[in-house]
Amino acid sequence: MKTLNIGLIGCGRISDIYLQTCQRFAELSVTACASLDAAESRAKARQYRIPKACTPEGIFSDPDIDCVLNLTIPAAHAEISLKALHAGKHIYSEKPFVTQREEGERILQLAREKGLLVGNAPDTFFGARWQTARKLIDQGVIGKPTGVFAFVGTRGVERHHPNPDFYYQDGGGPLLDLGPYYLTAMIFLLGPLRSVSGMAKRTFEQRLIESQPRAGETIPVDIDTHVQSMLAFQSGVIGSMTMSFDIWESATPRFEVYGENGTLCIPDPDPVHGANIFEGEVWYRTRETSRWVYQPRQLSGLDHWQVAQNQHAINQNSRGVGLLDLAYAIHENRQPRASGELALHVFDAMSGILASAQDGNSKTLRSTCPIPAPLAEDFGTMTETTT
Ligand SMILES: NC(=O)c1ccc[n+]([C@@H]2O[C@H](COP(=O)([O-])OP(=O)(O)OC[C@H]3O[C@@H](n4cnc5c(N)ncnc54)[C@H](O)[C@@H]3O)[C@@H](O)[C@H]2O)c1
Repeated sequence: MKTLNIGLIGCGRISDIYLQTCQRFAELSVTACASLDAAESRAKARQYRIPKACTPEGIFSDPDIDCVLNLTIPAAHAEISLKALHAGKHIYSEKPFVTQREEGERILQLAREKGLLVGNAPDTFFGARWQTARKLIDQGVIGKPTGVFAFVGTRGVERHHPNPDFYYQDGGGPLLDLGPYYLTAMIFLLGPLRSVSGMAKRTFEQRLIESQPRAGETIPVDIDTHVQSMLAFQSGVIGSMTMSFDIWESATPRFEVYGENGTLCIPDPDPVHGANIFEGEVWYRTRETSRWVYQPRQLSGLDHWQVAQNQHAINQNSRGVGLLDLAYAIHENRQPRASGELALHVFDAMSGILASAQDGNSKTLRSTCPIPAPLAEDFGTMTETTT
């Protein structure tokens, strides 16, 4: 199989884990990198032995680059993705897919016209715990799914991100930032959505940056930062989801699926990073097991639970592994699992929730998407390099 030559645009905070993942797999080779800051791009090229640091235009015009990895800020995602497609490159972008639905439709349409593939984060559902959860549901362990619940309560990102501004501008906020992980996982487990509704609130008009180098600086908040959602799936499953930057801490379960014969629970030990976790236990309790007492974060509480030990190959932080699947998808002439259609459906759900919060009406979604196929258990191990 031909190596996928990748041009990275956006050399900020999230790029390190992507570059480390790309180095793990022989099918992926980052051959150039660019950002708005030439010094930052040069430093990243040096650190990861990337042959060329250049401008975004230098990536678009490079005939040897097959795919643009778009790790820019949300407001720039659509512009970079469209330019890359016009230049004949496949694309894989960070979430959120876009900030306006029309941009997403344009991207998918252009890709279809040009015969190019569109991949999009998150790819956390490739991880062992989500693949295990899917297997348990498919095997009927909890019976027919009836409900789903997800919760992330954090106090925002200004305590740890050096440039938190974009999280509080259009395209940011807890729903667009964290919602994609949970909605994508829900769609992977339960199928596409039919309708959504929501309520939203902005608790603070300003945020104080507490991380270096801008500690002490105040930034404005342009979007709602506490969002409650109601979800109806095409399968008949109903659910609720809370995503917030206004909560100091919570002991609420992070992700649960209810079935006619049991409950599946994905405890999330990291409230800051939400579902940014590929590995970890999946707990379940069925009609046959004894009653349990929920004790978050205490493994000793597990004796009343069945614990599924996931054996899957993607059992560590592997952001970017969706790109590996995109490389296979090009080779196998199919759509990638972390596809643009999936990302647009997730975006539709999130914009429906925010629109419903404005006018009080439930929103029927215009889009749908294919349910990503589960991975083979050895996915990613065949050509994993040792460096
Ligand atoms: N930081 C995280 O923990 C994290 C986690 C998951 C996903 N993400 C997502 O990854 C993306 C990037 O986040 P980040 O934290 O790395 O941001 P960042 O601010 O650290 O870096 C952004 C990079 O994009 C470049 N850039 C911005 N606009 C550009 C443009 N128009 N043209 C070319 N380059 C441009 C900047 O120069 C910089 O290199 C966002 O979509 C974010 O939602 C971030």
